[in-house]
Amino acid sequence: MDFLLSLQGVVAGYGAGDILKGVDLDISPGTVTCLIGPNGAGKSTVLKTVSGLLRPRIGLVRFKGEEINRLSPRARLLRGIVHVPQDRSLFPAMTVWDNLLMGGYVVKDQKAVRRRIDEAAAVFPICTRRAHDQAGSLSGGEQKQVELARTLVLDPGLILLDEPSIGLDPKSRHQVFASIRRLAESGRTVLLVEQNARSGLAASDFGAVLESGVVRLVATGASLLEDPEVARLYLGAGRAAAPTLSGVTPDTGRSPSTISSEGAR
Ligand SMILES: Nc1ncnc2c1ncn2[C@@H]1O[C@H](COP(=O)(O)OP(=O)(O)O)[C@@H](O)[C@H]1O
Ligand SMILES: [Mg+2]
Repeated sequence: MDFLLSLQGVVAGYGAGDILKGVDLDISPGTVTCLIGPNGAGKSTVLKTVSGLLRPRIGLVRFKGEEINRLSPRARLLRGIVHVPQDRSLFPAMTVWDNLLMGGYVVKDQKAVRRRIDEAAAVFPICTRRAHDQAGSLSGGEQKQVELARTLVLDPGLILLDEPSIGLDPKSRHQVFASIRRLAESGRTVLLVEQNARSGLAASDFGAVLESGVVRLVATGASLLEDPEVARLYLGAGRAAAPTLSGVTPDTGRSPSTISSEGAR
């Protein structure tokens, strides 16, 4: 099996210490993978080593078979690795449409950019509805939709999403996860990080648990949701946090209600 993205023994950190202590992770094309783990585990750091904001000290990052360790963030962007950071990243004083145009600023073929913007707007109607409004006037959930649309302007091979649902109300959160499923169904590959692990896993094909600087466990999203130890450690078991993701969950053969009742035990 040819993986789209492979991390092999990635060691990385910021100062003297290592945060990632040998991360191995393989992502198959066309899948959604949710990285979970405790606060400060290094989940965002993993995404940074993929988009190039941080270079591994040891180990390999491979994308489409190419070793990309030494490539700049821009070079990785041009190869289709698009990173949506946790914080809002639209230019608030620019219109929604101009933000989409900015998404394609590294692309030479501006005709392709315009075509992709039209395609993105078809997937994310908010882009047309609010095209001429300042991005900063949109709600947090609406801005996240535009951020997702903007990734499509680069015809991304891999979309990295850092905490896409953070700070959103339940309805917007639901919309964000539904959008992620739609991206997957149109063949995009997504690696996301979610504090909201239960909803993140429910919307993902696979889940990976990052702990103490290594990936400790990789399994389908559904099986991680059913794993009692994962539930106890990472899913806030005991709290009845039933995700309302009907129609959003991947086809795992299990209903969200079954999952939530097990997780709450
Ligand atoms: N720019 C930075 N400089 C120094 N330390 C950082 C920086 N970013 C993150 N860290 C530290 O690295 C560790 C992992 O951070 P992070 O990857 O953001 O964790 P997570 O996303 O899992 O919450 C934390 O201890 C954090 O304080
Ligand atoms: Mg983080």
